[in-house]
Amino acid sequence: MPRPTWRAASKNSTASENAVRKAVPAASPVRDAILAQGLGSLVAATLIYLVWPQLWQLPLAVAAVQGACAALTAYKLEAPPWWLAIHFAFAPLVVAASSLAVAPGWYLAAFVALLLVFWRTDKSRVPLFLTNATAAAAVAALLPARPCHVVDLGCGNGGLLRRLARARPDCEFFGLEHAPLPWLWARLTTLNRPNVTIRYGDFWALHLGLFDVVYAFLSPAPMPRLWQKAAAEMKPDSLLVSNSFAVPDVAPDATAAVGDRRATRLYVYRPAK
Ligand SMILES: C[S@@+](CC[C@H](N)C(=O)[O-])C[C@H]1O[C@@H](n2cnc3c(N)ncnc32)[C@H](O)[C@@H]1O
Repeated sequence: MPRPTWRAASKNSTASENAVRKAVPAASPVRDAILAQGLGSLVAATLIYLVWPQLWQLPLAVAAVQGACAALTAYKLEAPPWWLAIHFAFAPLVVAASSLAVAPGWYLAAFVALLLVFWRTDKSRVPLFLTNATAAAAVAALLPARPCHVVDLGCGNGGLLRRLARARPDCEFFGLEHAPLPWLWARLTTLNRPNVTIRYGDFWALHLGLFDVVYAFLSPAPMPRLWQKAAAEMKPDSLLVSNSFAVPDVAPDATAAVGDRRATRLYVYRPAK
C-alpha cells in the first residue's frame, strides 16, 4: 500500500479554531502552582510570626504549615484534587530531602530525566500514560476490514502501534511524539516493523486528512481543539477514536467498553460525515 506523504496542517487558524481556543481556559498549571506556593508561603510566614514564632526552630513543622497553606490556596484556585496533595507534600519533602546527603547533581539528573519523558506537559496538558493490551485489541477491532492508514497522535513509547502492526500487517501505522525519550523508545522498537513509521514532532502541525483512523489518548484539555481540527481536516468516513476522553458536547457515533480493570471506554466519531 502506498504511504501518504506527511503534510503539515495550515498555519492559518480558522475562525472556529480561534473561538475554541478562547473558550478553553488558557490557565497555566505552572502559573497556578507558583501562585499557590508563593501565597501559601506568605500566609504561612504571617501565621507563624503572629501565632507561634517558636515554630521557626522546627524546619519540618514550618514546611508542614507552608504545605497546608499552599494546598488551601490551590483549593481556592480550583486546582484539581491531585494538585492539593502535591502542594501539601512539596515543602516537607524538600526539607526532608535536604537533610539527606544527596549530591545536587542527582536532583538535576532526576529533573532532566522527567523532562525528557514528560516534556512540555505544562503546555500540552497531556501526560504520558499508555494504552493497555486489552484496549489495543479493542482498537484493532475498530479498524476497517480493508487495508488502511492509522495515526496515533502522541504515540508515547509506540506500544499501541506495535500491537496494531502485529494484528494488521496489511495496514500502515504512523505515530507522532514530541517527548524525546518516549519518541526514541518508539523509534528504536519499531525499526523492524516495516508498516510502522514514527516521527518526532507536534501533532497539531499534522494534517489529519491522510488517515482512515485517527487515534488519540490525550486528556480532557485538548479535546475541543482536537475536534475542531478533526472536523476541518479528516476525510469522509474516516474515524476518530478517543481513548477515555469524550469530545464535550458532541455525541459519539459509537462507544466501546474495553472490559479492562480501568473500565476504559473508546469514543468513536466520524468528524466528516
Ligand atoms: C496519554 S499518552 C498516550 C501514548 C500512546 N498514544 C498510547 O496510547 O499508549 C499521550 C502522549 O502524547 C504526547 N503528546 C502530547 N501532546 C503532543 C503534541 N502536541 N505532539 C506530539 N505528542 C504529544 C505526550 O508526550 C504523550 O506521550
